[in-house]
Amino acid sequence: MTGLLAGQKALVTGASSGIGRACALAMARAGAAVAVNYNSSAENAERVAAEIAADGGEALTVRADVSDEGAVDAMFAKAVDSLGTVDIVVANAGIQSDSGIVEMTLEQWQRVLAVNLQGQFLCARAAVREFRRRGMRPGCKALGKILCMSSVHEVIPWARRVNYAASKGGIMLMMKSLAQEVAPERIRVVGIAPGAIRTSINESVWKDEAARHALLQLIPYGRLGEPDDIAKAAVWLASDEADYVTGTTLYVDGGMTLYPAFRDNG
Ligand code: BGC
Repeated sequence: MTGLLAGQKALVTGASSGIGRACALAMARAGAAVAVNYNSSAENAERVAAEIAADGGEALTVRADVSDEGAVDAMFAKAVDSLGTVDIVVANAGIQSDSGIVEMTLEQWQRVLAVNLQGQFLCARAAVREFRRRGMRPGCKALGKILCMSSVHEVIPWARRVNYAASKGGIMLMMKSLAQEVAPERIRVVGIAPGAIRTSINESVWKDEAARHALLQLIPYGRLGEPDDIAKAAVWLASDEADYVTGTTLYVDGGMTLYPAFRDNG
């Protein structure tokens, strides 16, 4: 299989659905062998792997709760054992658990931070360890690539979701700080900030007509994003075509971060 990621080995967390699934499929189409991580939905992950195999690609599934240190290390060990190494990590797994400030429990705060931020830290750390162990691969410009799935809410405050917005703001500075640390080794660390993408995380909004209409007012480009909009950006960012891109966030949001409420206003 040829393509932008021919010969590369990718690990995508939260790949059984939504943006992670789209990234896994797109990377496989671009020629990468893919470790499809999931936490609870083995069946969906198997379906993603089967789709990749049916298309002539290589995939395995690997269960891990990304907030669990031992589980993340075991996941990397399994991926390396099966694929030989890992060149690309898409730290994508993420959750929302919304509440107003007074109703938000400590458990809700901690769980969102644990999955979204600690999970990315654990995956990034394991990735750098593997990149260093393996050393430079012939034909690859970088020693490795880490894509951190963030959100427009790394910069847009979001009432009733202080846990989620804090996790995404944290991801941004973790990504930049790590990029600064490992750039001399030719490891690239990049953020992707999706806007409103049609997945199960925001299903209650886009399935409800009034809520969808209100959401569209926040998107100058006039449509919801699709998981493939993000996956295409991820493939490019992970490829040698983006070899000079590190320590920055690519917003894939139809202009949501342009503050459209200020058009003819303010
Ligand atoms: C959230 C979605 C939301 C989007 C835009 C994402 O990070 O997970 O629920 O629709 O940001 O607000």
